[in-house]
Amino acid sequence: MNSGKFITLEGIDGAGKSTQLEYLTALLQQKGQTLVVTREPGGTPLGERLRALLLDQSNAMHRETEALLMFAARREHIDKVITPALQNGTWVISDRFTDASFAYQGGGRGLNWDKLTLLEQWVQDGLQPDLTLFFDVPVEVGLQRISTIKTPDRFEREQQDFFQRVRDAYLARARQHPRRIHIIDARQSVSAVRAEVTSMVETFLTDSR
Ligand code: TYD
Repeated sequence: MNSGKFITLEGIDGAGKSTQLEYLTALLQQKGQTLVVTREPGGTPLGERLRALLLDQSNAMHRETEALLMFAARREHIDKVITPALQNGTWVISDRFTDASFAYQGGGRGLNWDKLTLLEQWVQDGLQPDLTLFFDVPVEVGLQRISTIKTPDRFEREQQDFFQRVRDAYLARARQHPRRIHIIDARQSVSAVRAEVTSMVETFLTDSR
């Protein structure tokens, strides 16, 4: 079986992840890699409906409901998109994955990491990204960058202390998985961040040959 690689992008809201996702996609395509680009929550028709429920600011919910919906969407995503692509030798780039659940539901909402670990084991059954790029910015920078959004979603409406806990949880998760999660200083200019993404991807490609 020709197995593709699974790359995920993470960061607090406003870290500039989407810009870099476009760049990374173009870079890998240029190198001849067949790719599926997807996102979480979402990535499947049902997952996108769950995303709409999760982001709708009128849907207040228990933090465990929030986590369970994230993982429900993820189960579909793995089954319908991620696993079939990887088995086919296609690479998958996902805009967020489980590290976001540890950061947002764990750090942000204060949900116990042990519960998230159980869900992770249940839903992923050993599947982990091969490489994760965590675009790290101080919370004030992220908040500044999202301050122009006209209708912020349920997460973007959160306050500074929420995003501080999210960022701290991402950093803690990166310390737990130092070989998989690469921290990129996303305070730098777009071109400087790009240069770091490029060199990380070159190293990853060399190592995975
Ligand atoms: P985001 O990538 O920020 O979408 P957009 O750039 O279109 O606004 O993702 C949506 C939100 O979902 C984001 O605020 C983080 C949140 N999220 C979680 O809370 N837990 C998760 O497991 C995932 C995947 C996302």
